Amino acid sequence: MADIQVSPGWKELADSINKQKGVVVILGAPDTGKTTLAFCLARELQLRGCKVAMIYADVGQCAFGPPATLGLSVLGKLETVPTMRHDSPGPVFLEEIKIHSMYFVGCTSPMGHLLQTTVGLKKLVETAEGEGAEIVVIDTSGFVEGGAAWELKFQKIELVNARHIVALQRRQELEVILSVHEHRTCRTVHRLKIYEAIKLKSYEQRRAYRRQKFLEYFQNATLKNLPLKEVRLINPVNILPIEGYINLYKRLLVGLNDDENFTLGLGIIEDTGPKELRLLTPVEALQKVKIVRFGAIRLDENWYDSRVKLPSIHLLKLPPITLRKT
Ligand SMILES: Nc1ncnc2c1ncn2[C@@H]1O[C@H](COP(=O)(O)OP(=O)(O)OP(=O)(O)O)[C@@H](O)[C@H]1O
Ligand SMILES: [Mg+2]
Repeated sequence: MADIQVSPGWKELADSINKQKGVVVILGAPDTGKTTLAFCLARELQLRGCKVAMIYADVGQCAFGPPATLGLSVLGKLETVPTMRHDSPGPVFLEEIKIHSMYFVGCTSPMGHLLQTTVGLKKLVETAEGEGAEIVVIDTSGFVEGGAAWELKFQKIELVNARHIVALQRRQELEVILSVHEHRTCRTVHRLKIYEAIKLKSYEQRRAYRRQKFLEYFQNATLKNLPLKEVRLINPVNILPIEGYINLYKRLLVGLNDDENFTLGLGIIEDTGPKELRLLTPVEALQKVKIVRFGAIRLDENWYDSRVKLPSIHLLKLPPITLRKT
């Protein structure tokens, strides 16, 4: 187990955030140490007596919680805060971190899911603040290149009204995102050096990390029936009757959401009948599920995810049919 190298800027960063509390957004390209810094910063702030919450806003390489979701943890007493370990393929923690709330985005990449990612983040920040968090540390994804990434980061920063923007850069790759906020009195931009010895993860390692996270999440899952009359199914672009099209939906990942559209847990569609969905899920309290949000990925028998595109109703030349609640 390698030690975390605390760079000189980290303590000053914690001091600055402690003086002006609020939302902290950590930005960086892939493998720049965002998650490591997020946990170290949370700990430093707790040592200074602050009430801290953490949000993972990375649907692929999430620090805690299953992929395809965003998650919030309101940190308790200092001794219960997880310590980071250095195991490949991704961050692991010595103790299980307690998830307060989750939001299902439906995909393991923000591409094509920018709105879901932004709305979910806002809902989680509001929840954290409602729980009395003075500081909310947000660990973001490494999606920083190109127009869509710029817009996503910009809108997220605006929506959560980030007080601090922390940038981990190899060279100048974040400058185009940072420069907008540079001289604004409502935000402070902090530039930090990255830990030079970070090894870049390959596509396969990232995929294997997600697989591991899904595997862990579903390890105690059982097959359960969810009565359709109790829930609303949300699949806005491709409203197809499940009946007769089960092959399209088989092994599809779904978010099992409560009345406020927070995610109680995930499920995998195994089968369907006219009156029920048969799901593999670890969620026990299915009576709390009010909304089933269809995802854009399927999990195969080996727990690898792949993106699915359900054919649109127009392509199938079917009359529009809304799902029956019988
Ligand atoms: N300050 C540090 N000291 C020692 N090791 C570090 C440090 N920062 C990062 N690392 C190492 O680099 C690896 C990647 O770091 P981390 O997961 O924090 O990066 P990331 O930017 O969150 O990556 P991703 O893009 O996958 O989200 C970690 O597993 C850790 O081993
Ligand atoms: Mg990370």
